[in-house]
This record gives sequence, structure tokens and C-alpha cells, in this order.
Amino acid sequence: MDKKSRNALIAGNWKMNMLASQVPAYWQGLESGAKLAEGVSSALCVPFPMIPAMKAALAGSQVKVGAQDVSAHDKGAYTGEVSAAMLADLGVDYCIIGHSERRAYHAESDELVNAKLKALLGAGITPIMCCGETLEQRDAGVTLSFVESQIKGGLAGVSAEEMKKVVIAYEPIWAIGTGRTATAEQAQEVCGYIRGVLACLYGAELAKGVQILYGGSMNGKNAAELLAQPDIDGGLIGGASLKPEFADIIGAANEG
Ligand code: PGA
Repeated sequence: MDKKSRNALIAGNWKMNMLASQVPAYWQGLESGAKLAEGVSSALCVPFPMIPAMKAALAGSQVKVGAQDVSAHDKGAYTGEVSAAMLADLGVDYCIIGHSERRAYHAESDELVNAKLKALLGAGITPIMCCGETLEQRDAGVTLSFVESQIKGGLAGVSAEEMKKVVIAYEPIWAIGTGRTATAEQAQEVCGYIRGVLACLYGAELAKGVQILYGGSMNGKNAAELLAQPDIDGGLIGGASLKPEFADIIGAANEG
């Protein structure tokens, strides 16, 4: 299986932006520009309160709804948390886990990310597991070993069968929301390395089938070059997913 046989996935990460009442107008704006086609999957990962509005807006389209976090617990006395079963019940297809903002502001460890990943798989939701280094780590030359440790920690105890349902997103922290995109070479180097780590863990055949996304200031202008790299199968898009420009990125994936 090579790049051509892996479907592209373009996922938007709204972070803590927008309101449920703004969802229909957003979708109308996007739909008029979106060139959706076979082979490219897309999703919008929105804050929990917007999931029903987004589900309603996207009904009949190929775009799926995603969440941005999930509890590691099944149910019970966990005030404020949202379980994987609750997300599945709302028809959520994807869920971001281990985003660097959650790792930084909520002290999420690889162990916790691993527990969340397993909770999602148990509920039939596709995890989009994020990894990525800080600028200090890049400058210190430890990017690859750090990302490898995040991948191995996040996937601990995950079987080969389960791994077929996991998406990985490489997001260098210094490129997130900064307008400073990784060069296509930098992004490819790490995404290729991640595929190598997956090959060691699960075998080369399985690794070739895993969708690996790049995220970090991807936009309508730089998407085509990034998506053309052999080990980059899509994008996790923050800022640009809030604008009609998101459709341009889906269009770039369609053409790639
Ligand atoms: P950005 O965010 O596209 O705004 O850099 C990406 C992300 O954090 O997922």
C-alpha cells in the first residue's frame, strides 16, 4: 500500500472558537466552495456543545463530525468530562487526542493519551493522535527521538487490528497558530520517521496503510506542497478551518 492507496484526510480543529448558532452560516460558506470528491475524507472537530448543530448542518454531505477531546473513563463521577460512548451516541466519527494545547495546559501525559485512545477505539470512534516537538527540542536535535517516545507511549498495548483504525497527526508546536509552517522537507522527514516507527511496532505492510497528517499553519496556499510529500496523507487544520479557505485545502487534497 502506498500513498495513492491511502485516502487523504483533511480535518479541521476549531479549538475554542465559534458558536453553535454560527454553524449553519459557516457550512453554507464552505459548501459553496468545497470540491468534495471520492478519496478525500474530511472532518470538522468542534467543541462539544456544537456537535449536534454540526451533525445537522453536515447531514447528507461527506464531511464527518469530530470532537477535540474525550474522557479516559467510561462513566461515573467525573464532573465535567465527556465519555467516548456519549460522543458515539451523538454520531461523532473522529476525535483529536493528545493535542499539544491539552498536553501543555492540562498536563496530559502519553499514558493519559493512551487511555483516551483506547476509550475511543472501544466506542468505534477514530482517534487522531497528535504528537510534535517544541522549538527547543528541534533546536536541540531531539525531534525524532521525542516524537518516537510520544508515538510509542500513546500506542502502548494497542493491537495491530486496532492500529488500523488510528490516525496520527504530526504537529510541531512551533508551527501551530504561528504562521510559521514547517517546510515540506521538515514535515516529510518526521512523518516518514513516524511511519518507520510504526513499521517497527506493527510491520511495514500495516504501517503503509496508516494515515499520517501534518498540522501547523497549513493553509490554502501551502497545503498542496505539504500534501504532495510521500508520507503526508492529510492535514489537521486549526485557524484556516474557521474560514472558507478550508475548502481550498480539501480541494488541494483532491488534486494531489
Ligand atoms: P493551526 O493549528 O492550523 O492554527 O496552526 C493546527 C492545530 O493546532 O491543530
